Amino acid sequence: MKIEVRQGSIVEEAADTLIVNLFEEVSKPGGGTGVVDSALDGAVSEMIALGDLTGKSGEVSVIYPRGKLPAKRVIIVGLGDASDFGIEEVRQASSTAIKRARELNAKEITTIVHGGGIGALPIRSAAQALVEGSLLTSYNYLKRMGNHGRSDDIASLTLVEIDAHKIEDIKHGVKIAEVLVGGVFLTRDLVNLPPNVATPTKMADAASEIADLDNMNVLIGDREWASDYKMGAFLAVALGAGEPPKFIVLEHNSERHDLPVIVLVGKGITFDSGGISLKPGEKMGEMKSDMAGAAVVLGVMKVVGELGLPLRVIGITPCTENMPDANAYRPADVITASNGKTIEIVNTDAEGRMILSDALVYADRYQPDAVIDLATLTGACVIALGKGISAGLFSNDETLQERLVKSGNITKERVWPLPLWDDYKKAIKSDVADIKNTGGRYGGVGTSAIFLKEFTNYPWAHIDIAGMALADKEKGYVTKGATGYGVRLLVDLLQNW
Ligand code: BES
Ligand code: MN
Ligand code: ZN
Repeated sequence: MKIEVRQGSIVEEAADTLIVNLFEEVSKPGGGTGVVDSALDGAVSEMIALGDLTGKSGEVSVIYPRGKLPAKRVIIVGLGDASDFGIEEVRQASSTAIKRARELNAKEITTIVHGGGIGALPIRSAAQALVEGSLLTSYNYLKRMGNHGRSDDIASLTLVEIDAHKIEDIKHGVKIAEVLVGGVFLTRDLVNLPPNVATPTKMADAASEIADLDNMNVLIGDREWASDYKMGAFLAVALGAGEPPKFIVLEHNSERHDLPVIVLVGKGITFDSGGISLKPGEKMGEMKSDMAGAAVVLGVMKVVGELGLPLRVIGITPCTENMPDANAYRPADVITASNGKTIEIVNTDAEGRMILSDALVYADRYQPDAVIDLATLTGACVIALGKGISAGLFSNDETLQERLVKSGNITKERVWPLPLWDDYKKAIKSDVADIKNTGGRYGGVGTSAIFLKEFTNYPWAHIDIAGMALADKEKGYVTKGATGYGVRLLVDLLQNW
């Protein structure tokens, strides 16, 4: 879908489909919807008067101008109650309208910028949200993988605005949205790919591509490299892997030592069978998404590079499969991580915290202002917060936590703070090592976070995205399958750093 911006009047647009909007409780529409209403001799006002059009959010109606406008059809999308209106409502309304346009086989669409008028949103944010909602809804995995079977694609979406002074801001918002969506799509693609394709090697290739395009440093550590760094925990998980493990590091602005340093760490288990502590077969295939944290970090690095953000951003993604094998690590093994701490293995299915521990230790060499890790770490987090509702957030730094919560609310990629109490440490006390890799049945999400904390000594946040990486069904602009959750959250955080 090609996005364009044009200064002019919506009623002069020759596109096959126009999109306008309506708030609840409005009897006489204004702005772009108002001019369309006038051109159609009050058809929109009449629909409102009849009660056929209410402006409720989720509402979408189609009217046919029959020659009174160059356009063939007009879609009116509800924006809901003006007092509850915000940036997320723009994304949702755009998504609703695009879905209807797609059903109607629309090819060329012109839309007004929702929220720029009575909505009173900054026009740049409104335009950005409109394009985010429209493009994210249009994600199609099979098509992106070269399957040309679909014919319902929209060729172009034009944002039209009468006020010439707003055009530059709209263009800016569109540009940011396009770059952002490019990052989300990379993440969705990597997570949707089958685990025999999205291997650690494939993750390394994706990282190298980002590095080439955006002039970043990239390091791809193999088994030997990791053993030079004494990454016993990462290597333990990789022992059973047929696919070669890759410890990937991307550095944006690597030569700039005057900038704040943010390190992003993503869990990259390209398939989590559980290892010797094998998972049940039912739904095991969903564990192809266990590299979602790593995929988010790559998606974010792509956006950071393309936007040229004035920060030093480091992306670290330890990648390996977790497989049962004669060489695999086993329950009762004692492993030494790269900071010298010893770990008793209780359950080989608690592998995420193992590979993250060495990555968190590695992060320290950058003297970071903040380290944020993302991981599909625990089923317990999904039980606690639900699927597709919010990620769990743990942090040792209040400011960092507040920043993340704020970005979560703006992007609607929410994070919910959970306690990082020392009491959880008791659960991972070991008789034969410094700590053990699981803390038993109770408080599984808290004990996983307290495990990771053992490997940090800087401002740090851990985001458990186990419930957020995959969607069972489409919901608004979040398509079925990989969601790309986390990319918009982190980019917003970095943009506002
Ligand atoms: N990758 C899983 C967690 C997971 C569960 C992600 C459901 C997405 C959806 C993780 O490696 C795991 O197996 N965690 C175990 C930990 C347990 C063995 C302490 C879990 O949550 O059961
Ligand atoms: Mn596991
Ligand atoms: Zn896992």
